[in-house]
Amino acid sequence: MSLVAIGACYVDTILTTPYYPGEDEKLRASSISRRRGGNCPNTLEVLQQLIAHNLSAENISLDLIAVLPAKLSIASQQIQSAFEPHVRLAHCIYRENVTEPASSYIIKSQSSGSRTIVNYNALPEMTEKEFINIADRLGPRASWFHFEGRTPGVTLSCILYLRQKYQSVKISVEVEKPGRPGLQELAEEADVVFYSKSWAEGNGYHTPEECILQQSAVARKASLLCCTWGQDGAVARDTKSQVTIYSPAYSAEGFQVVDTIGAGDTFIAGILYALLCRGDEWNLSQKLGFANRLAGMKVSQEGFAGLARALESFQSE
Ligand SMILES: Nc1ncnc2c1ncn2[C@@H]1O[C@H](COP(=O)(O)OP(=O)(O)OP(=O)(O)O)[C@@H](O)[C@H]1O
Ligand SMILES: *[C@@H]1O[C@H](CO)[C@@H](O)[C@H](O)[C@H]1NC(C)=O
Ligand SMILES: *[C@@H]1O[C@H](CO)[C@@H](O)[C@H](O)[C@H]1NC(C)=O
Ligand SMILES: *[C@@H]1O[C@H](CO)[C@@H](O)[C@H](O)[C@H]1NC(C)=O
Ligand SMILES: *[C@@H]1O[C@H](CO)[C@@H](O)[C@H](O)[C@H]1NC(C)=O
Repeated sequence: MSLVAIGACYVDTILTTPYYPGEDEKLRASSISRRRGGNCPNTLEVLQQLIAHNLSAENISLDLIAVLPAKLSIASQQIQSAFEPHVRLAHCIYRENVTEPASSYIIKSQSSGSRTIVNYNALPEMTEKEFINIADRLGPRASWFHFEGRTPGVTLSCILYLRQKYQSVKISVEVEKPGRPGLQELAEEADVVFYSKSWAEGNGYHTPEECILQQSAVARKASLLCCTWGQDGAVARDTKSQVTIYSPAYSAEGFQVVDTIGAGDTFIAGILYALLCRGDEWNLSQKLGFANRLAGMKVSQEGFAGLARALESFQSE
């Protein structure tokens, strides 16, 4: 089977500063680092580790569909060497007249742990026609599609196409950016929906429970709804059994917040892994508990390396 994730791939430049600067202030950063970002690439990076850890799940192949700059540009080459062969990039869309990747400039404040992000992206977004082409090349081999939901109008058309042509595919979507209209329409068509705290708050919900309960009347085709709430953990609802579960954020002895970039993406990787590889074996609270643990471990370290250890500590409990 194959999971296909559709979303943007960014190159992140992270400046660590002692505190968040005021406007027009001058400040010296204590370190600079560059890494590949973007929600779907982050999720795939973590998912790939979890799958590699579990040999019987080896046959789940992972595909990224992202719009990238020219195939021979430095950014595209770096993205390829970071991902292949574990995550296939054969279906990425290369814009040959663009050389700069989508870029994020992140200021990470050491005093508060906050991350402030400024984006630049000159790559024309994927069109519905491009997606249909790729979906037909992938064919029925692709069994799960996960959408970041960047351009909701196009994404909705893509989902409707999949529903009509490949009835057995499962579809998950991320409902994240509060100011982006059309995300709720995506939730209405998806099997699994991931709501962010910022979207929930932007839409007037005060708790993850409130978001999930109200949204379960909207996302009528979904079997699972999740809403993350930062350091307050996450809520998930199985719509069939109508069971809603809260799970607190992970915290171990000496737990410290080091880097929250991609916490939500890591949470999604945890749920997707649980659904794909532990569908019957883990109940909902175990699936949610695992995703929180995985995301919590990510928050307590720099980057995404070595997160499959979450499986070991989870199993031994
Ligand atoms: N301070 C924290 N301590 C422990 N766990 C955390 C903390 N912050 C986030 N998490 C974990 O990460 C999950 C997702 O966090 P959050 O809701 O902040 O995602 P997000 O804002 O979408 O992240 P991003 O956009 O950076 O990927 C939470 O459900 C929780 O499990
Ligand atoms: C993996 O796939 C190959 C061929 O695609 C098959 O021969 C093999 O049995 C599969 N392994 C598992 C563990 O399912
Ligand atoms: C690249 O080409 C596309 C059309 O193929 C066009 O829409 C876009 O504006 C061009 N971008 C640049 C930077 O020239
Ligand atoms: C691998 O995944 C299967 C479910 O797909 C599970 O039953 C098994 O325990 C896992 N094995 C390891 C070593 O994690
Ligand atoms: C899920 O399984 C765990 C471990 O077996 C158990 O403690 C827990 O009560 C179960 N939760 C639900 C909601 O069934």
